[in-house]
Amino acid sequence: MNDKTPLLYAAPLQGYTEAEWRHYHAAVAGGADAYYTPFLRIDKGAVRSKDMRDITSALNNGIRIIPQILIRDTEELRTLVDAVASAGYREININMGCPFAPIIRHGRGTALLADREMLHALGCEMKERYSDVRFSAKMRLGLSDPAQWRTVIHEINEMPLTHLTVHPRTAAQQYSGELHMEEFAALLRQSSHPVVYNGDLSTPADIDRIIRTYPAINGIMAGRGLLARPTLFAEWRTACEQPTDSRLAVIIRLHDAIYSSYRQRLCGDSQILSKIKPMWEYLEGTIGHKAAKAIRKATSLAKYEAAVATIR
Ligand SMILES: Cc1cc2nc3c(=O)[nH]c(=O)nc-3n(C[C@H](O)[C@H](O)[C@H](O)COP(=O)(O)O)c2cc1C
Repeated sequence: MNDKTPLLYAAPLQGYTEAEWRHYHAAVAGGADAYYTPFLRIDKGAVRSKDMRDITSALNNGIRIIPQILIRDTEELRTLVDAVASAGYREININMGCPFAPIIRHGRGTALLADREMLHALGCEMKERYSDVRFSAKMRLGLSDPAQWRTVIHEINEMPLTHLTVHPRTAAQQYSGELHMEEFAALLRQSSHPVVYNGDLSTPADIDRIIRTYPAINGIMAGRGLLARPTLFAEWRTACEQPTDSRLAVIIRLHDAIYSSYRQRLCGDSQILSKIKPMWEYLEGTIGHKAAKAIRKATSLAKYEAAVATIR
C-alpha cells in the first residue's frame, strides 16, 4: 500500500504540449508535479533542432521538465542523452509506446517491446555510461497483444528506471478502445519499478477511481484529459470541482498567455495560427461546436480573434 500522495504528470503530446503550453499551464492552471516533453528524435543523423529549441527555451525554467527521447538502439540513446544532458537535464524518459506505423517500422516506440536484446543493451548502456542520469520509461502493453509486456518485463525490470508509465493499450489500438486493466494490474505486480498509470483520465473522479483501485501506483499521467480540462490536477488536489464558467475563465487566461507569447515569438498569421489552433482541439466540449468550428476555419489573426471573442 502506497500512503504517499500520488504524483501527477502532464503527458507529452506532440504539437500540443510544447514549451509555451507547459509554462503557461503551470503558471495559470497548475497542479502538475512534472511535465514530460514530446519526444526528441534524430533526423538525418542529428537531433532535430526544433526539439532542442523546445527543451532549451527559457519557458522551461522553474518547472520540473522530463525530456522524452525516441530511440531504436544504443547509438541513438547516446546521441540523444548526450544532447539532452548538455542542455542541463539529468532526468530523461524513454519512449516505448509510440504507436505510429512508420516509427514502429524503424524499430522505435512500441517496437522496442518486441526486442529483448535491445532492451537489455539499452539497460546496460544506461547503467554503465549514464549513472548520473535518472531514466524513466513510458510504454504500452504491446504491439497488438496486450500480454506482450510479459515477454520483456525481466529486461525492463533490469533497466535503471525511477518509474515506468503505462498506457494499458496496444499500439494497434492507437488511442481508443478497451483499456486492458487486468494486464495493467499484473504489470503493476510484476514491475520492480514504481508504476504510473496513464490513459483516459478526464475528471477528478477518474483519478480517484484509479488511485482507489490501484493503491500501489506511484502516480498518474493525463494527456488529452488535461488539455480538455486544464484545471484537472488543481481540482483533484483541492478536492473541489470547478463549475464550467470558472474552468472556462482559466482556459481563456491560458489561451491569452500562450497566444501573446506566440505573437511575440513567431512571424506571420499562418505560423501563429498553426501553433495556437491545436490548443482548442480538445476543448470543443467546453466552448461548443460553433466556436470550435469558427476557430478551426479562421484564416487570419483578425478572424481568429473574432472567433475566440465569442467565448469570452
Ligand atoms: C496527438 C498526440 C501526440 C502524442 N505525442 C506523444 C509523445 O510525443 N510521446 C509520448 O510518449 N506519447 C505521446 N502521446 C500519447 C500520450 O502521451 C498519452 O500516452 C495518450 O494520449 C494516453 O493518455 P490520455 O488518455 O491521458 O491522453 C501522444 C498522443 C496524442 C493523441
